[in-house]
Amino acid sequence: MSLQLRVYVPDHPLIKHWLGVARDRDTPSVLFKSAMVELGRWLTYEACRHWLPVRETTVETPLAPAPATLIDPIPPLAIVPILRAGLALLDGAQTLLPLAATYHLGLVRNEETLEASCYLNKLPDRIDPETRILVLDPMLATGGSMIAALEELTQRGANPELMRVICVVTAHPALQKLSQMYPKLNIYTAIIDETLNEKGYIVPGLGDAGDRAFGT
Ligand code: PRP
Ligand code: URA
Repeated sequence: MSLQLRVYVPDHPLIKHWLGVARDRDTPSVLFKSAMVELGRWLTYEACRHWLPVRETTVETPLAPAPATLIDPIPPLAIVPILRAGLALLDGAQTLLPLAATYHLGLVRNEETLEASCYLNKLPDRIDPETRILVLDPMLATGGSMIAALEELTQRGANPELMRVICVVTAHPALQKLSQMYPKLNIYTAIIDETLNEKGYIVPGLGDAGDRAFGT
């Protein structure tokens, strides 16, 4: 499959470990939630590389001046968790980006048609095109929910090139669609799985991420 978008699967033992825990059907909900927090943290850490704006400056140590590279607080930074399951990644992401604004977006997939519909939208009317946006959703299956989220963001002015998508399991059908519609997107995922079953679930995947994270 030839893709235009950039898909990063970090080769990191902590990411592999927590993915294994999340995939295991015997993992109880409380531990599944912890795995999502850890995956949110480490995938966000990887996504921040070469993405967060920095400024070069000088600080005074107790002994002498020293060059320092600090995060530039001026360019706007936002996190968009896609409810419900994206909420499970939020704690980990916010630990690394405590000053980012958080805009909640609630999307749910129709179980028969697999089409996503929006039931909560806390995005601002206009988004500064310089805003760096981290979009959180653990599952990219058909890609319908992520495409609906990206439409909401881009029609308000957001630039897909400055976005980073954090997910846990990504499937080929979603990557193909996103590649056609948003070729400049950067995706960070713990794994890429091949297929979906007849109900639109990723196989082997990890099951229903929202239900497992919230014990429903
Ligand atoms: C899940 C998941 C994604 C979507 C992925 O959400 O969290 O948002 O499905 O599927 P897609 O790529 O085919 O659109 P779901 O609609 O089950 O809602 P939930 O997070 O509230 O469980
Ligand atoms: N949503 C999930 O939670 N899991 C899947 O495998 C597909 C969509």
